[in-house]
Amino acid sequence: MIWTNDPTRLMLVAGMGAAYALVCLAPYLRTRRKRLAAARAKAEAADAGWIVAYASQTGNAEELAQQTAATLKLAGIPVRLAELSELGAEDLQGAERALFLVSTYGEGDAPDAAAAFAGRLMTTSLPLAQLHYAVLALGDTAYAQFCGFGRALDQWLQAQGAQSLFPRVEVNRSSDAAIGQWRQQLSHLAGTSDAPDWSAPAFEAWCLSERVQLNAGSAGEPIYHLELEPASGVLPAWQSGDLVQVAAPADPSRAREYSIASIPADGRVHLLVRLHTHDDGSHGVASGWLTQSAALGASVQLRLRQHQRFRLNGNAERPLILIGNGSGIAGLRGHLKARALAGQGRNWLLFGERNAAHDYHYRAELDGWQRDGVLEKLDMVFSRDQAERRYVQDRLAEQAAEVRAWVDQGAAIYICGSLEGMAAGVDAALEATLGRDGLDALAAAGRYRRDVY
Ligand SMILES: Cc1cc2nc3c(=O)[nH]c(=O)nc-3n(C[C@H](O)[C@H](O)[C@H](O)COP(=O)(O)OP(=O)(O)OC[C@H]3O[C@@H](n4cnc5c(N)ncnc54)[C@H](O)[C@@H]3O)c2cc1C
Ligand SMILES: Cc1cc2nc3c(=O)[nH]c(=O)nc-3n(C[C@H](O)[C@H](O)[C@H](O)COP(=O)(O)O)c2cc1C
Repeated sequence: MIWTNDPTRLMLVAGMGAAYALVCLAPYLRTRRKRLAAARAKAEAADAGWIVAYASQTGNAEELAQQTAATLKLAGIPVRLAELSELGAEDLQGAERALFLVSTYGEGDAPDAAAAFAGRLMTTSLPLAQLHYAVLALGDTAYAQFCGFGRALDQWLQAQGAQSLFPRVEVNRSSDAAIGQWRQQLSHLAGTSDAPDWSAPAFEAWCLSERVQLNAGSAGEPIYHLELEPASGVLPAWQSGDLVQVAAPADPSRAREYSIASIPADGRVHLLVRLHTHDDGSHGVASGWLTQSAALGASVQLRLRQHQRFRLNGNAERPLILIGNGSGIAGLRGHLKARALAGQGRNWLLFGERNAAHDYHYRAELDGWQRDGVLEKLDMVFSRDQAERRYVQDRLAEQAAEVRAWVDQGAAIYICGSLEGMAAGVDAALEATLGRDGLDALAAAGRYRRDVY
C-alpha cells in the first residue's frame, strides 16, 4: 500500500492511535489514581496510629492526655496528640482509634476551647462506624451535671456508629482510683505493662512570709494578699497565668486552686485569697486556714500547676484586653507584671469590685503602670458607688466599638474571676459586640481565654 511509505501519514495514524488509546484508558487511569490515593490516605491514617484528643480548662485533662500519648508511644504505637478543637470531620472519619480525655465546665458545658467542636460538630451527624474509641471524663460530683460534656461526647460518638473500646471512665476530682482504671485499660490495649509514672508532682513545703488584708471596711468578704517562699530556698519556674494548689491541713486530699498573682522575677509566689464564709458562719476550709488560722511563717503544702490555657503563650506579642472582678485581679496582675517586664504596653484592664474607697486592690501599682505606659487603658467599675448597680460587663458593652477596634488589631482577651455573674455577663457582652461566631473563632485561635471559678 502506497500510504504506508509516507512517513508523515504514518506518524499521523500512530498519533491518532495513541490519542484513542488514551481516551479509552482515561477512565481506567482515573479510577486507578483514585484507588491509589484512597489506599495512600488509608495508609497515612494507619501511620498516624491513634488520635489522643483532649478538652481541658485548667490542664488536668491535657496532662492526662500527654501521659496517655506517652504510654502508647512507649508501646510503639504512633500517636497524634491534639486538642479536640483541632479535629475536623475528616480527621474523625479518617481515624480508626481515638481516645478522648475531656473535662466539664460551667454547668455541664465543654471547656472553652472545645465550645466550637461541641457547637458545630456535635450537632451534626457523621458516619463514624470505622472508629473505635474510649472516653475519660473529668468532673466533680459537687456539680449538678457531673461529667456533662464527657457524657455528651460519648453519646454523640455512639449515635454516629462509633464503637466503644471500653465503658467511659469518669473521674471525680482527679480520683486516683478512676485514673488507675483508665491506665489499666490503656496498658491492656497497648499490650504494655511498663507505663510511665503518672503521679502528679508532690506537694512541697512553702513558708507563708506575708499576709495583708487589702479591703478593710469593705462590704464584701475580706480579701488577703499572701506571699510564699519555698522552704527549700529554690524558686521553681512558672509563667503568668499559672495556678497553685494548696492542701489545707484539715482537708489535704482535696486541694484548692489559686491563681498566681506574681512572676518569678518577684522572688515569691503571691496569691490573692478571699475568705469564704459558709451559710452557718463557719469559714471555708482552705481560705479560712490561709487567711485566719495559719500563723505568719507557717508551712503551707503547695504545688505549682501549669495553666496552659491561661498563659500568654502565642499571645505575648498581641495587645491584651484583661477583664476580671474580685480575687480575679490575681491572674490579671500576673499578666500585667509579665507585660511590664517584657516592655509590652498595649494592655487594657477592665476590673469590677464594690466600692472604690475599700476595694481598689493594688491601686498604687495600677496607677504606676498607667504612668509608665504599661496600662494603655484602665476601666475600674465599682458596682456600689452609684445609685444603680454597674458591672464590668456594662462598661464592656458601652465600649463595644473600642473592643472591636482592639480585636481587629489582633488583641487577645483574658477573663479572670467569678464564673457566676461576671463571666457569663462578659461573655454575653462580647457576643453582642463580636457575634457568637466571632467569639468562637477567637476562642479556637486561643485569643479568648478564661480562668473563672
Ligand atoms: C481555677 C481556679 C482558680 C481559683 N483562684 C482563686 C483565687 O485566685 N483566689 C481565691 O480566693 N479563690 C480562688 N479559687 C477558689 C478556691 O479554689 C476555693 O474554692 C475557695 O478559696 C474556697 O475554698 P475553701 O476551702 O475556703 O471553701 P470550702 O470549705 O471548700 O467551701 C467552699 C464551697 O464549697 C462547698 N463545699 C465544700 N466542701 C465540699 C464538698 N466536699 N463537696 C461539695 N461541696 C463542698 C461549700 O458548700 C462551699 O459553698 C479558684 C478556683 C479555681 C477552680
Ligand atoms: C468553674 C468550674 C465549673 C465546673 N463545672 C463542672 C460541671 O458542671 N460538671 C462537672 O462534672 N465538673 C465541673 N467542674 C470540675 C472540673 O471538670 C474538674 O475540676 C476537672 O478536673 C477539670 O479538668 P481540666 O483541668 O482538664 O479542665 C467545674 C470546675 C470549675 C472550676
